[in-house]
Amino acid sequence: MSSYKTIKILAIETSCDETAVALICVDQNNFTPLQSVISSQVKTHAKFGGVVPEVAARMHIKQILPLIDLVLKKEKIKPQDLNAIAVTGGPGLISSLLVGTETAKALAFAWKKPLIKVNHIEGHVYSSLINEKPKNIAKLFPALSLVVSGGHTELILMKEHGKYKFIGGTRDDAVGEAFDKVAKILNLGYPGGPAVSRLALEYKSINKKLFDLPRPMINVPGFEMSFSGIKTAVLYAWEKSGKTKAQKIAMAYEFQEAVTDVLVSKTLLAAKKYQVKSLFIGGGVAANQRLRSKLTTIFENNLPEINLKFPAMENTGDNALMIALPAYFHYLKKDFQKIKGFRPDPNWELVR
Ligand code: KG4
Ligand code: ZN
Repeated sequence: MSSYKTIKILAIETSCDETAVALICVDQNNFTPLQSVISSQVKTHAKFGGVVPEVAARMHIKQILPLIDLVLKKEKIKPQDLNAIAVTGGPGLISSLLVGTETAKALAFAWKKPLIKVNHIEGHVYSSLINEKPKNIAKLFPALSLVVSGGHTELILMKEHGKYKFIGGTRDDAVGEAFDKVAKILNLGYPGGPAVSRLALEYKSINKKLFDLPRPMINVPGFEMSFSGIKTAVLYAWEKSGKTKAQKIAMAYEFQEAVTDVLVSKTLLAAKKYQVKSLFIGGGVAANQRLRSKLTTIFENNLPEINLKFPAMENTGDNALMIALPAYFHYLKKDFQKIKGFRPDPNWELVR
């Protein structure tokens, strides 16, 4: 049976500002990450206060082939030993995506290997499952996935591999984007999420509450969210404040509380409504410890039977292992991409 075979997949992710390559060996019992390398461009983009697409694409071009070469050589794997090449086909920055997809097409053609396209969000959905036995993943369905990144904030219902239903999400800014913008207002640099959450740790609850931010849409029925209002509220309150160190810490703390309150409340409601067995958390903001601890507590208190899956810290941000795992399930279904005519789609929606 094909599902008993051991499969080797080379996966490529270049949708934004990380050039990532992974090599996995997988069968139904074990998902073995042989290699996962990430060349981050964050220091380069930090100088500009955000990702510059043209610069990102040029850096991907420089990095991609040496990284693939490195990964294969380290494992002493020859191209003929591979079973498939997987690549992120979108969503993302078109010039960045093109570097990954053109590379994957060229390799699939030259090495005569099947080509598998993976949606970037699908990758984040699977990122918490990298240490699971592949055959056990299906037992976790139906699952709810909370994807929180710099570009996305979505609640997705997953009934089986490859079946996604959009439940709700932000109508404006993504939550990571809000962290980045608040960091800019507070002059904390880019990327903002880690900086804001680090500063929030310095907050002592005995301090009196200096700021009171809204929790937009928290009491509105349904699963729509909005984060641009919180960011604007931060801007106005900050401009009126004395901008002291203590106020900066209090603002970072209150902002993190406001956004995590909204995320946690909507996620719990959705898990209840759809009676899921598991919750998969993914995306850059899944690195946020406050979000992790609030989700853990609220689910323990309200839906203790639900299986909570968090990604390992190194797999919260963009990486290629999260592309390789769903690629394996596409492989089992022979869900391959024709090389000719394959173009990345910067707006590819996994679900709507
Ligand atoms: O998934 P990701 O690496 O890239 C996208 O696909 O967007 O997510 C990056 C986002 C950035 O907005 C960054 O500020 C945020 O994740 N982030 C965090 C934390 N670490 C990264 N946000 C809050 N708390 C963190 N600890
Ligand atoms: Zn991402």
